[in-house]
Amino acid sequence: MTTDRKIRIAIDGPGGAGKSSVAKEIAKLRGLRYVDTGALYRSVGLYVADHGIGENDEEGIVSCLPHIRIELVNDGGTQRIIMNGEDVGDRIRTPQASVYSSAVSKIPAVRDALFSIQRDLAGQGGVVMDGRDIGTVIIPDAEVKIFLTASPEERARRRYKELREKGVGQSYEDVLRDIIARDENDSTRETAPLRPADDAITFVNDGYDLEETVRYVMGLIDGVITRRGIE
Ligand code: DC
Repeated sequence: MTTDRKIRIAIDGPGGAGKSSVAKEIAKLRGLRYVDTGALYRSVGLYVADHGIGENDEEGIVSCLPHIRIELVNDGGTQRIIMNGEDVGDRIRTPQASVYSSAVSKIPAVRDALFSIQRDLAGQGGVVMDGRDIGTVIIPDAEVKIFLTASPEERARRRYKELREKGVGQSYEDVLRDIIARDENDSTRETAPLRPADDAITFVNDGYDLEETVRYVMGLIDGVITRRGIE
């Protein structure tokens, strides 16, 4: 039996489905550690962009890897991300960092470089991890796997609202175009493409707000825990 404190919950899905907000809330409600794995790819993307390397320059991107040191720090239930000593929590959230993160995540050497940090965190148990390949690659034996998704239009509306609140002036059309391009990139890449694990529960949350999504996902998690006899 796995105690709730050791449980590993994987939440995968495309950008803008609300994975990180949901994962954060679930971690809080269940007293688990929240791990946002997208932040790792975003940090690599940021480093590459900061160094003027093109998003399609695979060789240039790979040559950056030995110079990037990333730490994920658990700070009272939220995650801080430190790259080479700098807290990059805000800088990794720009539209440019999003585009770069998706580009670097296609490169197998980047995924390999970020593998052990994710495996180490998963190995400690008591985690809710969100990403694209948590249930398929990082923790294929996770106790609970959720694939959270929504239509591109719904996700673009949410992201647009979020960006506006942060004062980022990207149009809805541009946000939608970026989301569709990232979906295409993330799901057609050869290494660890975005797809639900065979044993994941898929939830399409169009029309659900965050609170309703959290309630629904908590219900799914409770159902799995009861069925599998996890304490
Ligand atoms: O979840 P996010 O939007 O912060 O992720 C940023 C990018 O990182 C996304 O385009 C795909 C990539 N990613 C990935 O390939 N694998 C993960 N486990 C998490 C993110």
